Order: sequence, then structure tokens, then C-alpha cells
Amino acid sequence: MAFDINRYAEESEALRYEDLDFDSFATDPLPPDILRTLHYMCDIEFHTVCYLRDMLVTPSRKDGEVSTFMTIWNREEFWHGEALAEVLARHGIAIGFDQVKARRIKLGWRDRLSPVRQSVLSNVMGKDFIAVHMTWGALNEWSTAAGYRRLATLSDHPVLTTLVRRIAAQETKHIAFYATQARARLADNPKAQRLVRLALRTAWQPVGSGVSSEEDVQFVLSHLFSGPEGRKEIDAIDRHLSKLPGLAGLRLVADALDAREVAA
Ligand SMILES: [Fe+2]
Ligand SMILES: [Fe+2]
Repeated sequence: MAFDINRYAEESEALRYEDLDFDSFATDPLPPDILRTLHYMCDIEFHTVCYLRDMLVTPSRKDGEVSTFMTIWNREEFWHGEALAEVLARHGIAIGFDQVKARRIKLGWRDRLSPVRQSVLSNVMGKDFIAVHMTWGALNEWSTAAGYRRLATLSDHPVLTTLVRRIAAQETKHIAFYATQARARLADNPKAQRLVRLALRTAWQPVGSGVSSEEDVQFVLSHLFSGPEGRKEIDAIDRHLSKLPGLAGLRLVADALDAREVAA
């Protein structure tokens, strides 16, 4: 496989941001729309640990490469959350453990039952479930990286731009892992291809749905991806996805934007 998991694990570092001049936000603060989108992304990053918990009850945990990746990946996403929380804190917006916990309590039974549901479903599917997990992961990481790239373009704040470009560079490694895995597990496996198509078409929603309110999802998708430049990013994601073995013709992300009437 093209992705060297040992090298990834050895070279992984917590996101660096101590060298960035966060004091500049005091004199040159970010506008409200950027802050709202950052808040959304921060929530997603901190929610990664719940996603990890859900996946540890599936057949994915028995795969050595996948479980190594998820351990390191979870730590990297945690530091993305910490960095964004620090930017928000400089604007008087507190996102700490208490806020994240409060949100999970609000999610209530849905959140508490999700590992159980995941475990039952995935163990029935067996090994092909990992193909679903890897393809789903690739699609989410493509979306997240595109989101950070758009944020870097939309914001003209040099500190934020540098920070989100650093985050996007780590997201690119996550893409490489998931996409490599997905390609290998879908190749010459019509059963896995059918399962992945079914799972994505019936259950996939843009990253952050289910964690944030539909109102926030709508706002962030419009903020980041409306207009021709945004659409270019979205179409590229759908193109990457539909190039995976057996997934030709899937157009999930553009459909999700159309359903929310995000202007092209
Ligand atoms: Fe991240
Ligand atoms: Fe990521």
C-alpha cells in the first residue's frame, strides 16, 4: 500500500501554533461570519474522539493499520480543536471541555446509543464495513480540507490564514490514508462497492451535521462554498469520490449543497 503508516506515526506532531502572533487578534479581530464558521469547525475537531469511540466497536479495530492510524489521527484532530479554541478564546468565545460536554449531553440518547448501533450494524457487515468506514473518512477529510482552504482564502487575516493552512496540511495526510485504504478495499470487491454506495447514499450528510444545528450547517456551507470558487472545491470532492472503484456517478456533496439551496 502506498501510505506508509509507520512513517506517519513516527513523524506525527501536535499542530504548532505557539509561534503565531495570536495577540494580533486584539487589534485586528476576525469578523463575526468567520468566527461562526471557526466555532463550527472547532466543534467538529473536538467531536473526533466520539467518532473514534464509535469506530472502536466495529471490525475496524481489529485491523492493525487502521487502529494505528486512528490513534495518531485522533491526537492530531484534538490539537486542531485546541488551536481553534484558542483563536475563539481571544475573541471572548469560550470553548472548553464544559461546552463540549454540554453539547454531548444535549445529544442525549442518540449519542449514547450510537456505539451500540454502530457495533451491531458493522459486525453484521463484517470486514466490508471497513470499506464503508474508509470511504466515509476520505469523503469527510476531503470536505474538511476544502473547508480550511476556503477559510484561508476568505479570511485576509495573516495569522488565521497561516494557522488554517497548517491544519489543512495535516488533513491532506488524513485524506491520503483514507483514500488509499478505500481504493484498496473497494477494488475487485462488488459487495463492498454496493455496501459503500448504499451507506453513503442513505446516511452521509455534510461534516458537522448531527453535531451542530441544521441552521449552523446551512450557514457554514453557504459561507464557505457558495459561488463559483466554492463550487469548484465541491465538484472536485465529488470527482475524487466517484473515481474510487465502483463509485462512478456519486454526487453527494453537490447534492447536499443543492438540497440546502447554497447558491452555485
Ligand atoms: Fe482536523
Ligand atoms: Fe482530519
